[in-house]
Amino acid sequence: MCGIVGAIGATDCTPFLLQGLRTLEYRGYDSAGLAVLDNGLQRARAKGRVAELEARVAEQQLQGQVGIAHTRWATHGVPAEHNAHPHVSAGLAVVHNGIIENYEALREKLQALGYAFTSDTDTETIAHLIHACLNGELDGEAPSADLFSAVQCAVAYLQGAYALAVISEDETDTLIVARQGSPLMLGVAEDGHYAASDASALLSVTKRMMYLENGDVARLTRDAIYLKDVSGQPVERDIVTSSLSANAVELGEFSHYMQKEIFEQPQALGNTLEMISGAGKLEPGIFGAEAAEVFQQVDSVLIIACGTSSYAGMTARYWVEQVAGLPCNVEIASEYRYRVSVANPRQLVVVISQSGETADTFAALEHAKAQGHTHTLAICNVPESAIVRETALRFITRAGPEIGVASTKAFTTQLSALFLLTLLLAKAHQRLDEADEKAYLDELRHLPVAVKNVLALEPSIKAWSRHFANKHHALFLGRGRHYPIALEGALKLKEISYIHAEAYPAGELKHGPLALVDAEMPVVVVAPNDELLEKLKANMQEVSARGGQLYVFADGGSQVTSSEGVNVLQMPEHYGLLSPVLHVVALQLLSYHVALVKGTDVDKPRNLAKSVTVE
Ligand code: M6R
Repeated sequence: MCGIVGAIGATDCTPFLLQGLRTLEYRGYDSAGLAVLDNGLQRARAKGRVAELEARVAEQQLQGQVGIAHTRWATHGVPAEHNAHPHVSAGLAVVHNGIIENYEALREKLQALGYAFTSDTDTETIAHLIHACLNGELDGEAPSADLFSAVQCAVAYLQGAYALAVISEDETDTLIVARQGSPLMLGVAEDGHYAASDASALLSVTKRMMYLENGDVARLTRDAIYLKDVSGQPVERDIVTSSLSANAVELGEFSHYMQKEIFEQPQALGNTLEMISGAGKLEPGIFGAEAAEVFQQVDSVLIIACGTSSYAGMTARYWVEQVAGLPCNVEIASEYRYRVSVANPRQLVVVISQSGETADTFAALEHAKAQGHTHTLAICNVPESAIVRETALRFITRAGPEIGVASTKAFTTQLSALFLLTLLLAKAHQRLDEADEKAYLDELRHLPVAVKNVLALEPSIKAWSRHFANKHHALFLGRGRHYPIALEGALKLKEISYIHAEAYPAGELKHGPLALVDAEMPVVVVAPNDELLEKLKANMQEVSARGGQLYVFADGGSQVTSSEGVNVLQMPEHYGLLSPVLHVVALQLLSYHVALVKGTDVDKPRNLAKSVTVE
């Protein structure tokens, strides 16, 4: 979604701002803008890509030692130049991530004071609010002494989520930032200070970062950072050295981030499972110091997530119930957060999120706690994220930065973490003997190699992709723990190739979707050689009998053979309970190659954003 960068230093900051915006492009956006202080406030904005903004910045010859910039993903108001940030009020400019829920009331209040609005955004109210605070126009308040106090005054009026960066031509040595709900971090470098909504945007200048807490307002000058917390008290925040490397967010030899991330999966899984590499047995401490006690106390599991992360949860449900013998439910975060449900204090609430910033998942976690849940665990790829900071237990997947909007390596590493969790719950409830534990650990350790073997099938999968590219619809079928994999395969195809795809548990076919099947309908079948294969074969017959075109991902030994209308891709040998991890990799490759044939924007599909930080 939206991205923020800001800088204050001794040299022209526009190259950093533009580079920062390019780094944030992956989050999804539809317009971009930049403002600098140079003989007054100067601004450039453009609808479309950062490259268009760059051209405007060059045309207008913008430069300055203090500046802010933004990529906007439209919420309030269409994608258009007049809605792009920064928004200005007289000589001050604001960029904003998040949503101001009471913006309509604020807009009316400001209009009554004579402020004229030029955009449809909620953000413009913030610019005018700060200006009104500086002038002492609000509710009999005295004029704010400076920009810092004016921002403090303005944020007190805001309801909702925000990360803000503000500059003013009246204070040329100051950059003010503030956050509530939306992420914002500062970069501490020799040559100045920086701000960004995502650590990756700071890596070109520094790895030394300071994470702002909710309610913080900070003044950045070239050589100092001054902070006040939510209660208005001066406060200091730790500087941490980021473990991210600038290389990790570069494309290297690959054509797309999605392709790079699909092929990084053996490494990502190896890194995530590193702690068990030499271990003869599993220790609960990998989920946090109190995990041993909690895992014994809990009597059931509630998994909450969105999108791909929720499909990881749905897969894990099969594992938790079968191996650990504990009841497990999976909830979509955006539904759960508004549902009246019955809390069980002995339930383990597991939130799964690649980014750790997904607004619905975060709110669902808060909701669970408010309902009386006490045992919370996050599975997340970003250690410093809001969700990780809110749970008692955590497991950080080590997938590395995921830039492509379509989640790939984050999903398979989430699955590996959930399998570890399953084994530990099983151990805590005396459901796992030593021999089984060792066998599962061996399978996990071999997983990176098994995934490599699936990646080697790319040429055959690529050959299939041409059959899909001119289709408007596709069905995905799976059964048991591979049904969530069918759901994930359908999501991958629809999000990057814009082909309408639906997934069904294969047994449901004749209860409705079979009516859609004809010679134009590709039907993808996830067909592992497991206990449900014979049932699945019967479902495939139902499709063939109606002229449907089958594309079957069959394990070695499945004995499903190609024939007229039945295309079979031979996967490696069946991989038992961990087979979903292998099958999903094949489906990721399929959707990637279909999107390539269709020529869509693989890494930045239309209308989507990488981190969904608004509701
Ligand atoms: O960062 P999260 O895992 O919380 O994101 C949840 C979904 O937005 C995400 O998984 C989305 O469905 C994927 N990008 C789809 O590939």
